[in-house]
Amino acid sequence: MLLRARPHAGLDRGPRSRYLPGTMSRSPFDGTPGEPLRALILGCGPVGRATGAALARRGHQVAYRDVVAAAMADLPADNGDARDLVYVCVGTAAAAAGFDLSAVRAALAVAAAVPVPGGVHGVVVVRSTLTPGACESFLQAGLAGRRGLCYQPAFCREGRALAEEDAPAAIVAAVDGPATACLMASVFARFPCPVHWTGFAGAETAKLWANLLNALKITAFNTAAAWAEAHGDDPAVTAAALAAASLAVREPAYGTRPGTPFAGRCLPKDLEAAGAFAAATGLPGAELLAAMKVLNARTAAVAPVATDG
Ligand SMILES: NC(=O)c1ccc[n+]([C@@H]2O[C@H](COP(=O)([O-])OP(=O)(O)OC[C@H]3O[C@@H](n4cnc5c(N)ncnc54)[C@H](O)[C@@H]3O)[C@@H](O)[C@H]2O)c1
Repeated sequence: MLLRARPHAGLDRGPRSRYLPGTMSRSPFDGTPGEPLRALILGCGPVGRATGAALARRGHQVAYRDVVAAAMADLPADNGDARDLVYVCVGTAAAAAGFDLSAVRAALAVAAAVPVPGGVHGVVVVRSTLTPGACESFLQAGLAGRRGLCYQPAFCREGRALAEEDAPAAIVAAVDGPATACLMASVFARFPCPVHWTGFAGAETAKLWANLLNALKITAFNTAAAWAEAHGDDPAVTAAALAAASLAVREPAYGTRPGTPFAGRCLPKDLEAAGAFAAATGLPGAELLAAMKVLNARTAAVAPVATDG
């Protein structure tokens, strides 16, 4: 079945992918695996290599480009051919004022100039980590209508990038219109996992907070272990007990619904008292607990319905 999308004519360039809400294993655009495509990978770090390998294993023709020749020593080089898909997999540096997206901007300009095969809808797929608003504030404009835009952030771990990109737990993707959705659905259909279609800001935020959630969890376990250790108990045994008993670990879906008021009998009371206790006794984490109280008070004010903590 031919799944090549038509060129840009008639493409709905609405600001969000409203037409693809929620989680679907198949998109409303069918999602049948399409014909093999020609893909170019820009940036040959762990994410670019893993992205290219996963596509090649699914029958797509993949070439690579990197500004550092040594980075692509063992990879098939780009020869300037037209490409259906151009993947931007360059690094996102951390800068003093936040994230530095200059490499993404530069790669996007290169991607926009890659020829699109005649009669098809070409897409730039950004895999680099972005900040919320980046796609709508400058990435879409940077493509100047020459290709569609898909943001498909990478959630893999560096040491396991090849395996995790080949068999991801889930794909999160945002697109700029039906033609891009159609093409990407045909690509995703070759991956055996659910696809979460979001708006651009949703995908940008989910990527950043996936990392921050890991950081928050590690922080909680390190801090709890330090409290036990400060009172002479074994930090590793304490952390293991916490992992076994905690609702947040035992039930992965617990606490994941946004806007849920932070109420009930235990959470606000224990959070407040634990923060005061840490501050008074010099245990670590008082600032974190105070910040949690402030952030959740905001949620409770927006949705003042009591739930059991
Ligand atoms: N490393 C991971 O496991 C991981 C996991 C999830 C997400 N990410 C994100 O994915 C993105 C890529 O990560 P990475 O670790 O593979 O990055 P990396 O920095 O290791 O590799 C990026 C490559 O892109 C090349 N490059 C830079 N500008 C280029 C351009 N204009 N054209 C072509 N090549 C260019 C660099 O020379 C480098 O080889 C980043 O945004 C990162 O935050 C990484």
